[in-house]
Amino acid sequence: MRPDFVRTYSPRMEALTRGAAQTRTAAAYQPAADVSAGADPLAAYHVKQEPYYRPVADEVQLYEAAYSVRMPIMLKGPTGCGKTRFVEYMAWKLGKPLITVACNEDMTASDLVGRFLLDANGTRWQDGPLAVAARLGAICYLDEVVEARQDTTVVIHPLTDARRVLPLEKKGELIEAHPDFQIVISYNPGYQSLMKDLKQSTKQRFGALDFNYPEHDIEAEIVAHESGVTVDVAKNLVHIGERARNLKGHGLDEGLSTRMLIYAGSLIAKGVAPLAACRVALVRPITDDPDMRDALDSAVTTYF
Ligand SMILES: Nc1ncnc2c1ncn2[C@@H]1O[C@H](COP(=O)(O)OP(=O)(O)OP(=O)(O)O)[C@@H](O)[C@H]1O
Ligand SMILES: [Mg+2]
Repeated sequence: MRPDFVRTYSPRMEALTRGAAQTRTAAAYQPAADVSAGADPLAAYHVKQEPYYRPVADEVQLYEAAYSVRMPIMLKGPTGCGKTRFVEYMAWKLGKPLITVACNEDMTASDLVGRFLLDANGTRWQDGPLAVAARLGAICYLDEVVEARQDTTVVIHPLTDARRVLPLEKKGELIEAHPDFQIVISYNPGYQSLMKDLKQSTKQRFGALDFNYPEHDIEAEIVAHESGVTVDVAKNLVHIGERARNLKGHGLDEGLSTRMLIYAGSLIAKGVAPLAACRVALVRPITDDPDMRDALDSAVTTYF
């Protein structure tokens, strides 16, 4: 027989016990969100207008299927290739509110989950963005999650497995995630290092969609749409982008993103000469190396 003092630690049971205790003292706390007033507390998080998103493969259908089973999703891909735009579009398409959190290394678990605040009336609990999303049923998008420290990242664990709960340790409450709640994280595999990577136990809680710069014609269509240049000009910009991407690992740390091509296009559409526009928006930001700048400048003059 197992001795009494050997007890399997169950975070869920612990949190439930604390949750019950919290209910008894609920009057001491203010409601986390003023649902009683009748106003939709997530109104500010609804994506009101259809964001322009040009599907690249079957990512829209895959995401819809993943959402239908509330699978946590990881969007992987280099900077400026459409991850944020995609999640905004999907939130709009599914009619769900979207709460975005830009992660950084100073972020603490309390920044996600919530904290007690002191005000004139005493102590008041304030839900963090993850708690609001879980409680009220939003898509919670943790942008650049690798930037957060690993001990912060683990707070999403109970929400991203079969439990779908969020223990608010300090408050002594267990939030059962709303049926509409889903968690989405973005992740740039190029930036990962031994120090900064997700734990396997975090990674393995997510389905992953790979993103990359779209193929030539689709990227030109996107650049033309977003910047206002003609498709022909956009195609030239994409050619330059492709040339620069070939230099990744040979002097450039990161490829030239769709976002940068759109910047260059926007300047051209405003009347800036293409050479100057490309220098400002494409070449100068990504490298300080004179040889590399020359190589990129000559790629620009090939097309403009
Ligand atoms: N498939 C696409 N459809 C429409 N617009 C796109 C698409 N891909 C990229 N874009 C455009 O590229 C820009 C940059 O994309 P976005 O901000 O979504 O990049 P990201 O992958 O989230 O980058 P980061 O990792 O730096 O946050 C968007 O503002 C949008 O204009
Ligand atoms: Mg983004």
